[in-house]
Amino acid sequence: MRWRRMRTAFVWLVIAGAAAAAPTPKNAVASAHPLATAAGMQMLREGGNAFDAAVAVSAVLAVVEPASSGVGGGGFYLLHSAKGNRDVMVDAREAAPLAARADMYVAPDRAPGTSSTDGPLAAGIPGEPAAWAHLARQYGRLPLSKSLAPAIQIARDGFPLYARLQNAIRVKQARLAASPDAARVFLDNGQVPAVGALIRQPDLAATLELLARKGVDAFYRGEWADRLVDGIRRDGGIWTREDLARYRVVERKPLTLHYRDATLVTAAPPSSGGVVIGEVLNMLSEYDFSHLDRDTRRHLTLEALRRAFRDRAEYLGDPDFVQMPLQRLLSADYAAGMATSIRLDRATPSDMLRPVAEESEGPHTTHFSVLDAQGNRVAATISVNLFFGATYVVPGTGFLLNDTMDDFSIEAGKPNAFQLVGAAANAVGPAKRALSSMTPTFVESPKGLLIIGSPGGSTIISNVLFGILGWFDGMSAAQIVAMPRVHHQYLPDLVTLEPGALSADERAALERRGHHVSEGRNTWGNTQVITWDYQTGEVVTASDPRGFGAGLVY
Ligand code: DON
Repeated sequence: MRWRRMRTAFVWLVIAGAAAAAPTPKNAVASAHPLATAAGMQMLREGGNAFDAAVAVSAVLAVVEPASSGVGGGGFYLLHSAKGNRDVMVDAREAAPLAARADMYVAPDRAPGTSSTDGPLAAGIPGEPAAWAHLARQYGRLPLSKSLAPAIQIARDGFPLYARLQNAIRVKQARLAASPDAARVFLDNGQVPAVGALIRQPDLAATLELLARKGVDAFYRGEWADRLVDGIRRDGGIWTREDLARYRVVERKPLTLHYRDATLVTAAPPSSGGVVIGEVLNMLSEYDFSHLDRDTRRHLTLEALRRAFRDRAEYLGDPDFVQMPLQRLLSADYAAGMATSIRLDRATPSDMLRPVAEESEGPHTTHFSVLDAQGNRVAATISVNLFFGATYVVPGTGFLLNDTMDDFSIEAGKPNAFQLVGAAANAVGPAKRALSSMTPTFVESPKGLLIIGSPGGSTIISNVLFGILGWFDGMSAAQIVAMPRVHHQYLPDLVTLEPGALSADERAALERRGHHVSEGRNTWGNTQVITWDYQTGEVVTASDPRGFGAGLVY
C-alpha cells in the first residue's frame, strides 16, 4: 500500500517535472487588426488548428488592411507542425509574369507612365490565394468555406474605417482615384472618408466566395482567370493565362541559425531576412556582449548590419534562378573575417567596403503570429508591397494588385522604394520571385519560444533582429514590440532613427564613432509577437503600439 502511494507520488513528480520542462501551449494570436485576431481565435475555438487560424487571419487582413496585404499579394508563411516536429516555409511570393524582362522598367522605348510601383505592370502573379488553399489542404482541419467565412462577411457587411488605414488612403488618394473600382470602395465621391465610415467591398466578398465555394483552381484557371487576365491586359498589363495557371506556392526549407543557446528558424531566400540576420548574429558572436556597454553594442550591431546588407545587395535573389554562396556567408569563419574589419571606436564608411559587383520599402505589408494548444505555430508576413500595392483594382474583382515587381533590382545601382540597391542576382526575369526582406521567425531556447515578424520593407530585418536581441536580454513581449527602432542597410550610408528613438547622449555616441545619423519624422514597423515561457508556462501576445492590432490568448 505504502509502496503504491509512493509510486503514485513518484509518477506525479515525473509528470510535474515533464510539465515544467515543456508546459502545454495555449491558443494565441497576434495580428495587425482586432477583427483578424478574433477570426483566428474563432477557428481555434471551433476545432481548427494554427494553420486554419492563419488562413482566417490572412483573409480578414486582406479585407480590413487592404493597403498592406491581400488576395492580389503574396508572402511567406513559416509553419511549425508539432506532429513530427517539422518546420517549413511556404513561399507564396509573387512571381514575375513570363513576359517580364530585366530592362522592362528602364528600356528607352517603354511606354510613358509604366512603372514598377503603380498600375498593372507593377504586379507579379499573386500567391496568397494559393497559400490559403495549400495551408487548408496540407496542414489544416477546416475547409476554406469555414476559414474564409469571417472575411467574406466583413467584406460584404463592411468594417469601420480606422485612422491608420485612413492615413494610407490619404497618401494614395490620387492613385486610388485613378482606378475606378478602387475609388468606389476607398473614396467617398473622390474624398477620403471619415474615421468610422463603413468600408464595404462586395466585389471582394464575391471573389472570396468563389475561392470558398469552388476552390483555388477557379481563381488561377478557367473563366474567372480569363476575365482577370483580360482586364489586366486591357489596362496595360502583360499577364497571360499561362502565368496564372502555372503559379504554385513552393515549400522551402527554412533557414536554421544558432545563436547562444537558441535555435532560430527563419525565412530563407527569396527572403533576404534570415541570411542577413544570420550574418549579423555570427558577427556578434565574435564579441562578449556582457562586457560591452550599450552604445558599443548598438554600434557593433549597426556595423554588422551594414556588412550583411552589402552582401544582400550583391548575392541574394530567387534560389530557383541564382546560385548563392549561403554556406560561406553563414559560416563562422566568414563572420570572423568580417568582424576583423569592424572597429569598436569608428564607423566604417559604406564606400570603404568592397563595392557591389554589378554583373553579378509605412503601414504596408503585415505580419501575424499564431500558436495553438497542440504546439503548432505560424509566423506569416504577407504583402502587396507599397501602400495599396499597385493602387489598381482589376475591374469587377474587388482586390488590389501588388507592386512587388519593385522589389527586383530594376536598374543596376538604382535604389528601389526602400532605397535598396541590388545586382544581377535580383534582376527581373520571367517567373522569377523578387528578393524580399520579410522575415517571419521562430526563436527557441531552453528558456522558451519567441514568434516574431513585422512589415517595414528593408527595416523589417533590423526590427526583427533587435527584437530577437531584446528577447535574449530578457525583454517582455510588450517591450519588444514597443522598442524604439534603429536601422542601417549599407546604402544609403546612414543610421536611420524613428523620432526620439535615441537620447541625445546615445546619438552622440554613434556620431563620435563617425556614423551619419538621420532621425525621420515617421515611425515604422508593426511587430506582432507571441512569447511562451517554458519555466512558468506563460503565453503572452503583444501587438505593436504603433499600429491598431491586437493579441489574444485563451
Ligand atoms: O518583400 C519585401 O521586402 C517588401 N515587399 C515588403 C514591403 C513592406 O514591408 C512594406 N511595409 N512597410
